[in-house]
Amino acid sequence: MNYEEKITDHYRKEAAAMGLSKNSTMHDAFIRNKEIEFILSEVQAHRSKRGNSLSILDLGCGNGYLLSVLTEQVDGCKFTGLEFTDELYQLAISRKLKNTTIIKGDCRTERMNGEQFDVIISERVLINLLSKDDKVKALDNIRSLLKDQGIYIMVESFDEPLSNLNKARKELLLDETKPAYHNEYFNEEIVKGFKETGFAELNPTYPKHYLSSHYFITRVLHEAIRPEEGAIKNTEFVKFFDVALPPAIGEYSPILFRVFEKQGSAL
Ligand SMILES: C[S@@+](CC[C@H](N)C(=O)[O-])C[C@H]1O[C@@H](n2cnc3c(N)ncnc32)[C@H](O)[C@@H]1O
Repeated sequence: MNYEEKITDHYRKEAAAMGLSKNSTMHDAFIRNKEIEFILSEVQAHRSKRGNSLSILDLGCGNGYLLSVLTEQVDGCKFTGLEFTDELYQLAISRKLKNTTIIKGDCRTERMNGEQFDVIISERVLINLLSKDDKVKALDNIRSLLKDQGIYIMVESFDEPLSNLNKARKELLLDETKPAYHNEYFNEEIVKGFKETGFAELNPTYPKHYLSSHYFITRVLHEAIRPEEGAIKNTEFVKFFDVALPPAIGEYSPILFRVFEKQGSAL
């Protein structure tokens, strides 16, 4: 299967199974909630800093759930969603969100008729691009689609923390965990190249490794002690430790919360 077939095949099934659900594409409710809270907090912080209306592009907007939260909670902004998989694109359109345009296209090549945005978001989207070249192409496109001093809110998975997670799993004799068949993770070398194209990394409003404690609880501790065939996601065990332990302990979450600002002439 080539890239297009793999992605559309996977997400067509997800659209059929999950419809407009909040947990479409992310069945772990804690991760989904925290991703949304982080993105919302970054958009609100940028809105306060700028003090005016923002244009916001959600790359790979899926069924439009994130856009539905943003349109409810961030006033006076203009929203655009870009989606590759027809079934998810149709679901996003069906929400009829205010001040929102949904476009079908590819984040590597879609030029949005020359429009530039104040904020671009990707929530586990660029990991679907299965080569370094395609990721660099999408990051180059993000650079051309962003205004100077615009921000890119990146919620994507990385190899380095995955390797920390696997070290911890190995200690408890658990198998190595790998990215899903339709994913390829980022690494710091790609980010270094991206920054060299004119981006500064900002301190995020949530710690970059915010999900680390949750990953350790769910993918190490719980997996090591649960009975065979025991439930793994959204369990009482996990809910207890998500509250009992502070977030962001260690660097075990492949999913990182990052923010980059496009450098350019002063406003
Ligand atoms: C893990 S899902 C995340 C969707 C959404 N951000 C969410 O959180 O539900 C990845 C999304 O990226 C879309 N996608 C994959 N490759 C894409 C591409 N080249 N251009 C635009 N969207 C793409 C998929 O169709 C899917 O909706």
